[in-house]
Amino acid sequence: ARIRHHRWEVKYEFKSPDCFRKLVITINGRTPGPTIRAQQGDTIIVDLKNSLVTENVAIHWHGIRQIGTPWADGTEGVTQCPILPGDTFRYMFVVDRAGTYMYHAHYGMQREAGLYGSIRVALPDGEVEPFSYDYDRSIILNDWYHKSTYEQAAGLSSVPFVWVGDPQSLMIQGRGRFNCSKPGVEAASCNATNPECSPYVLTVVPGKTYRLRIGSLTALAALSFEIEGHNMTVVEADGHYVQPFTVKNLFIYSGETYSVLITANQDPSRNYWAVSKMVSRNNTTPNALAIFNYYPNHPKRSPPTVPPSGPFWNDISPRVNQSLAIKSHPNYIHPVPQTSDRVIILLNTQNRINGSVKWSINNVSFTLPHTPYLVSLKQNLLDSFEQTPPPDVIDGYHTYDINTVAPNVNATTSNSVYRLKFNTTVDIILQNANTMTSNNSETHPWHLHGHDFWVVGYGSGKFNVSEDPKKYNLVDPIMKNTVPVHPYGWTALRFVADNPGVWAFHCHIESHFYMGMGTVFEEGIEKVTKLPSSIMGCGDTKRFIRP
Ligand code: C2O
Ligand code: CU
Repeated sequence: ARIRHHRWEVKYEFKSPDCFRKLVITINGRTPGPTIRAQQGDTIIVDLKNSLVTENVAIHWHGIRQIGTPWADGTEGVTQCPILPGDTFRYMFVVDRAGTYMYHAHYGMQREAGLYGSIRVALPDGEVEPFSYDYDRSIILNDWYHKSTYEQAAGLSSVPFVWVGDPQSLMIQGRGRFNCSKPGVEAASCNATNPECSPYVLTVVPGKTYRLRIGSLTALAALSFEIEGHNMTVVEADGHYVQPFTVKNLFIYSGETYSVLITANQDPSRNYWAVSKMVSRNNTTPNALAIFNYYPNHPKRSPPTVPPSGPFWNDISPRVNQSLAIKSHPNYIHPVPQTSDRVIILLNTQNRINGSVKWSINNVSFTLPHTPYLVSLKQNLLDSFEQTPPPDVIDGYHTYDINTVAPNVNATTSNSVYRLKFNTTVDIILQNANTMTSNNSETHPWHLHGHDFWVVGYGSGKFNVSEDPKKYNLVDPIMKNTVPVHPYGWTALRFVADNPGVWAFHCHIESHFYMGMGTVFEEGIEKVTKLPSSIMGCGDTKRFIRP
């Protein structure tokens, strides 16, 4: 195994990734940042210099379990204090499993300012994938807002509440296209011919097969991605091999990664469109376009056809069907424990607290403490956060009507956490419900840090505690780290609490987590070895730093 050492400088720069000029956060001058390439078992070292001048930072390695290094998870308020302006922080961790992962900021709503990138981990020498391809490529899909993250965050916490609204653009590998000639757009801040916003080009050689690793780090949007005239065979999801299945368009939610195989087997005399489209909420955001370029056609030559218009935003069934189609590859099944020790039902609701709109889990809207849990739990700082744990099931769950607006939309805020017994098997049922708007329920992609979980079931309507567990897939469920909860539906996960540390579990929609849609699990804190002092410095951690 090798050591892969990176030196990154994070700073603000003016860029025009969708032709509209705004401040973005770059790593070594780029957004998306550099791709981390490694081989299973390698150690990654990132020396991160915060040159944001007046702003803290932290970076999370999304999908990397951090076994033995819970302090390197990069989650501000959970596993570390933020990195102060001018400071350099060292992240060091092992990538223990081949697959497709991502990294992104995990401080406030900073991720959507452009601080993100890909992680690609190859198999050890001598091991082969259960599929073959000629070339390997990575792209990240994203959505893009023109307002600063501060303006958005301030709006979300204001009374009256100001929603972030639809993203202005969608982006494919950091490139989108905003319509600069829209009325009201200042000519000085938008230039349709800026090369920074020329479409992303994926060049292919006719007849060859490409493994395309697709990740989504949208702030809000659920997406459908397709390449005109080409099928995609899904072979990997969140670092696990799936039983291959073929789709025309791939639905992908924020925090998910997939590998698909695409063969360049169409008329080679032209180029084709690749399209990313927002689904699951009615929206005004234009589709993102990239060029699927057949060599030797000119990479900038527009395809002669109208780009495919994609699925209707409100057509839920193909999205649910894709979720149901994802099973473990038969030769790579991680046997799932057949029973669980604890069942936690998490009711997802939209609420009003002190005049502001929030999201809650079991009527608790989550807030982050000033002292990271990893330190407060390890050092027994019982005053650093609320000690009464949130409930495993909310009072009145069994009579709660998920199909209508709740008669009482009040909730409370808390920073309390779930404490799991080490090595036990835990079931989580994510139950969706109607929002505070009638006939409305949203899609929420939930992401668990520090683990992969088995996706044992999806259902529509209210979860039936005695009947639905009998229908779980305990034979070949896929393991993932991010999974959607569909409108008015439920999703059931199972995982083993075997990774000592403190782990965030939250909706990956940036504004939803900011509005409280998340929680935290602690397990085996007594097994965590001495914490590095580099993660300390804020809140009640100050007393552990010796001069
Ligand atoms: Cu990719 Cu806690 O997030
Ligand atoms: Cu959400």
